[in-house]
Amino acid sequence: MSRPVAFEITPGGPVAGRTAVPGDKSIAHRWLLFAATAEGTSHLEDLPLSLDVRSTALAMAALSPKARPALELWASNDGATVEGGGSTWNEGPAEGSMSRIEVEGEGRSALVAPAATLDCGNSGTSMRLLAGLLAAAPFPTVLTGDESLSARPMERVAAPLRAMGALVSTTDGHAPVTIEGGRLSGIEHATSPPSAQVKTAVLLAGLAADGATTVLETVPTRDHTERLLVALGAPVTVQEGRVAVTAFQHGPVDGRVPGDPSSAAFLLAAAAVTGGPITIEEVGCNPTRLAFVDVARRMGADIRVEIETEVMGEPVGTIALDGGSRLVGTRIEADEVPLVIDEIPVLAALAAHARGETRIEGAAELRTKESDRLAGTVSGLRGLGAHAGEEGDDLVIAGGGLGGGRADALGDHRLAMAFAVAALAGAGPSVITGAEAAAVSFPTFPAVLARLGAGIGER
Ligand code: S3P
Repeated sequence: MSRPVAFEITPGGPVAGRTAVPGDKSIAHRWLLFAATAEGTSHLEDLPLSLDVRSTALAMAALSPKARPALELWASNDGATVEGGGSTWNEGPAEGSMSRIEVEGEGRSALVAPAATLDCGNSGTSMRLLAGLLAAAPFPTVLTGDESLSARPMERVAAPLRAMGALVSTTDGHAPVTIEGGRLSGIEHATSPPSAQVKTAVLLAGLAADGATTVLETVPTRDHTERLLVALGAPVTVQEGRVAVTAFQHGPVDGRVPGDPSSAAFLLAAAAVTGGPITIEEVGCNPTRLAFVDVARRMGADIRVEIETEVMGEPVGTIALDGGSRLVGTRIEADEVPLVIDEIPVLAALAAHARGETRIEGAAELRTKESDRLAGTVSGLRGLGAHAGEEGDDLVIAGGGLGGGRADALGDHRLAMAFAVAALAGAGPSVITGAEAAAVSFPTFPAVLARLGAGIGER
């Protein structure tokens, strides 16, 4: 991450208007990985220039000689010179999202041993998906990450890959992770805890394994991989709680990455707490990513979702929020948590401005994210003057508004943006430290918010 940045928040008028958001991070990781292992040339548009997605692009560049020139060029782009790509936005999201690249692939069997360790930076998705891909690659690879990623659990992905026949070692359950791939056999694996990253890793290994590979999940998680596999014509069967694949070499991926609904959630919440109407265009509307909309509606936010098109199996449309929401507290049960896992910090920001208590139950998985997001959300919201606490693995927010103050993002992008949103409706000004982390998923967050009328500055 770059130099330290603090967001300076001055509460004021409504956050309102129309905008787009950078491309979806989860989809971009998958499309990049599949493009670089395709047989043929893929055309990818609007990959987000977020740090996490660059990590996947550079790792795939190291593994795939044919894809390398395009991926290295894209990942070295600082955003300022990227062409508009047909967009009508020439600031904000455009800086972070507009691009079109042509990725040449020679198939999965053409991957080569990387010259060095693969640095996944802050990105758990990069590390876990790459582990699944490399489980069938006949050479050793070492995956490393930054301090935060090196503290996150990796046995959950290593164990099923070992059971399929790969040699995988972790460092006391964490990165660095060493993988020596080989001949794999399909398995049946129940993810525990439910995880889209682990599901995807096992399916990626299954695409190069003998026999069928089945992933079972007790609670649904995001299904981008399944949708992509169907769009690519893979032998995949998707039933409720069960996905199965057999070996398959896919062709190219062509499409424009939809806007990231998890990034849109911050702007919708900023509008909800400040009273503005907002419209987010060309955003991903995959139902496994929009559970936060249901929660926000329960809290009184008037949100409309209109699906307009579909790309590589992903619905894309417009999400709009009417101004003047009167927010009330809610209860998020443990079973709902996996589908709002990335939005809990921003839902907590909404809850701080709601009438009555909000309780998010069984949220232990939040402790394994880019930071301990359960403890981090509580300490940050308290720093801004809210009443919040942990009760076991529940997150409890009293509601009733906040005065403003100081919160530390703890190097976690979603905490940085959630605290900024909460602070926008504070009674007084606030400072959010560690805000440079926002670039991990939404580098243009402060610029977009400012354009929509928010009192946000950087220092
Ligand atoms: C992701 C899955 C989720 C999510 C992460 C992205 C993905 O992680 O929190 O931001 O792209 O598959 P888990 O699979 O660990 O829940």
